Amino acid sequence: MNEENFIPTHSHKEVANGEVKARCSSNIALVKYWGKYDFQLPANPSISYTLTNSFTETSITFKKSNDFSVELYLDNQFQEKFSSKIYTYFLSLKRFLPFIDSYSYSIYTKNSFPHSSGIASSASGFGALAKCLMEMSEMLGEITTEEFKLMKASFLARMGSGSACRSIYSGLAIWGKNSDIPSSSDLYAVSFPFEIAPIFKEMQDTILLVDEGQKQVSSTVGHSLMNGHPYADLRFKEASKNLSDMSQVLQSGDLEQFGKIVEHEALSLHAMMMTSSPAYILFKPNTLAILDKIWKFRRESNTHLYFTLDAGANVHLLYPEKEKGLIFSFIKNDLLKYTENGNLILDKVIF
Ligand code: DP6
Repeated sequence: MNEENFIPTHSHKEVANGEVKARCSSNIALVKYWGKYDFQLPANPSISYTLTNSFTETSITFKKSNDFSVELYLDNQFQEKFSSKIYTYFLSLKRFLPFIDSYSYSIYTKNSFPHSSGIASSASGFGALAKCLMEMSEMLGEITTEEFKLMKASFLARMGSGSACRSIYSGLAIWGKNSDIPSSSDLYAVSFPFEIAPIFKEMQDTILLVDEGQKQVSSTVGHSLMNGHPYADLRFKEASKNLSDMSQVLQSGDLEQFGKIVEHEALSLHAMMMTSSPAYILFKPNTLAILDKIWKFRRESNTHLYFTLDAGANVHLLYPEKEKGLIFSFIKNDLLKYTENGNLILDKVIF
């Protein structure tokens, strides 16, 4: 598939007005996307779990209009900055959704997680928007199959925020070309194409909210600091190898190896930030305290509790459901004190 395949071949019909709705989950990357080229294309392939309880719900009402406009409401509050961001995003999709600037839009969106939690809403947010737009396109006559609809929604979501393209699929999703995954592409994400070992279908993700504030350096800036980064080439190659290895591990059910790759990826991501120019650090002393406790607990308890980090201070704890009892006591007794307000989100992969 190339970009041209996403340009509709029939002209759209005109509809006076309508409404479309979609829900899209957030995701947590096991192998991280960090660095991009051209227009929102990934410098290395990535893979993520789509989550169950962290999601965005969006509805769009549209009206035929000579005045293309976008009004976005988050929790029923008008958002001026987001509205103009989405206006620009919609315009960028014109080649693939030729009707886009012939309507005026009111977008109502809400997240299942608090806005201030430090959980990025861009993946689930753009995922939900892209799904809505594909509903609209179909309503206006674009001929699609279920498979193509997902693929194009992923393609459209990617143009808003890279990691959003993986959120379109439940389970595990891969974005970025990798020679061991024949269906993979830089343009859109695909569902993990192989049989997954049962243990990896019931992974829990408990998110410790260490810092609920706005982070100082956005992901967009972070990605751009990978241009000319002294370790960039090595990082991109290693991430690609980690993805191939992870693909094997997910099929074989090797939990220890899973943990090794996941933690290495999380620390590599933050190592890239620390060695960027200018350098920056997004984790907090409490993030490190949590990692230290996890390593100690693992040595002593013979459990499979692993961490991963996003571009922020919060810690995602990944573990199999059958070890939930022991691990959750540990979280409550030893880790909760490192969170900002005793806050955590109990989540798990969705299949
Ligand atoms: C650290 O998808 O938020 O979460 O494409 O600029 O919107 P943009 O960046 P974004 O970057 C996410 C980076 C990450 C790793 C990942 O999810 O793979």
